[in-house]
Amino acid sequence: MRVLVTGAAGFIGSSLCEALVAAGHEVVGLDGFLPNYSEQTKRRNLKWLMQHGNFSLSVGDLGMLASKEALAGFDAICHLAGLPGVRSSWVDGQFSAYLNANVLATQAILAAALESGTPRVLYASSSSVYGGASGNQLLDEALAPRPTSPYAVTKLSGEHLFSLFGTELGLGTVSLRFFTVYGPRQRPDMAMYRIIRSALTQAPFRVYGDGAQTRDFTFVSDVVRAIIAALDQSVPRGSVMNVGGGTPVGLLDVVHEVEAITGKKVPLEFVERGPGDPVATRADTSLVHQRLDWTPRVPLRQGLEHQVTWQLGEPL
Ligand code: NAD
Ligand code: UGA
Repeated sequence: MRVLVTGAAGFIGSSLCEALVAAGHEVVGLDGFLPNYSEQTKRRNLKWLMQHGNFSLSVGDLGMLASKEALAGFDAICHLAGLPGVRSSWVDGQFSAYLNANVLATQAILAAALESGTPRVLYASSSSVYGGASGNQLLDEALAPRPTSPYAVTKLSGEHLFSLFGTELGLGTVSLRFFTVYGPRQRPDMAMYRIIRSALTQAPFRVYGDGAQTRDFTFVSDVVRAIIAALDQSVPRGSVMNVGGGTPVGLLDVVHEVEAITGKKVPLEFVERGPGDPVATRADTSLVHQRLDWTPRVPLRQGLEHQVTWQLGEPL
């Protein structure tokens, strides 16, 4: 297959590109190096890929690059470019950046994919569209979305656009709702990255709230397998499916796991919980299992060990 991956220099995008290239596909990566974290880190994510003949990089903003000509000749597009981050989406003056990256750029790629006749177009949607779960509630795709952050509002808009281009215009779209992804190359604003960094540096990890929040953390290689399965297999146009790790755990349990792996205490500082931060997420993955025969494979302890090993080789 010839595949275009947007957001190729990012955490999930670079991991996906590597898996596709390793499986013998030809991959064009596109990234605009948004300043949500350092360009240096994103360039490091691309190091292996840049030496591989089956990978090439196109640098620039998707809103400008998404044209019929640029998208011609791809068997699939994986649209992972986006401005992530639940908490920073509340910062004053940030909404237009979220709107550009997550809604306008998504519409531009869909319109160009339709014109160029791309057979399969995949969207990196987000568990945040649910707005969280109460108690042990399983979040399944039939539930009405109730986003609780500006970020989640823009991700849901992008997902709706994907569904509409599928059902109304016949484009082969599919959206996967990823649940809090972790593993090597995790973004530096995310909890596990910061917990591990705190163990290694002994600078305090700031817990937003009481630390009792739970997440259905999903290891990055499991996410990549789900994406590749969604490219390979036929699913109804406009489909939306959850991709979750299967074992929701509390934030303080993650802290204890990291302490056990590193043999170091994580100093904690409790601060106020931010607005719209989901109390719990828990994915119902029966649909993705039924349609793509996908189940998560990497348990939390093993995934965290991989992330610790990676972070030990990174600047802190
Ligand atoms: P990331 O920030 O590491 O990667 C996203 C990349 O997209 C960045 O390198 C950025 O420069 C690029 N990008 C953004 N807008 C662009 C544009 N308009 N033009 C060109 N490049 C652009 O983030 P990530 O954690 O790898 O997330 C990837 C996708 O998955 C995002 O869409 C995010 O919303 C979604 N997602 C992530 C998670 C998670 O837990 N990491 C969970 C659910 C959904
Ligand atoms: C993550 C990603 O960052 C989003 O881009 C993605 O869309 C979302 O998952 C998803 O599943 O859809 P989040 O669940 O907030 O969002 O993941 P983390 O950043 O790892 O945070 C997990 C929990 O730890 C949150 O409750 C957060 O408030 C808390 N946290 C995070 C802290 O207490 N301190 C920190 O320094 C960072």
